[in-house]
Amino acid sequence: MGTFVKVDRASEIGPGEKKIYEVDGILVVVVNLDGEYYCIEDVCTHDGGPLGEGDLDDGEIVCPRHGARFDLRTGAAVKLPAFEPVATYEVKVQDGDLLIESY
Ligand code: FES
Repeated sequence: MGTFVKVDRASEIGPGEKKIYEVDGILVVVVNLDGEYYCIEDVCTHDGGPLGEGDLDDGEIVCPRHGARFDLRTGAAVKLPAFEPVATYEVKVQDGDLLIESY
């Protein structure tokens, strides 16, 4: 089972916003979708594009490099050219702190 590390105050990411953090040497993107927080690795599984720089659209993030889309809740690749899912990490909010799963 993973442990959790504090990366920020949850209030730093408003609804519809995202932010990039480094957890254990891995860059991750945390997104606030209508008050629920989701976290994925900041690396597109197609060709390493910086997902954190992509647009959010309807629960998905769009890779800025070639337009692949990933479901933020599951990490599933939902549009080519990516077909492998991106890694997801659990997020917890505790006393207003944003905690990310780490290994
Ligand atoms: S690197 Fe993300 S779609 Fe190609």
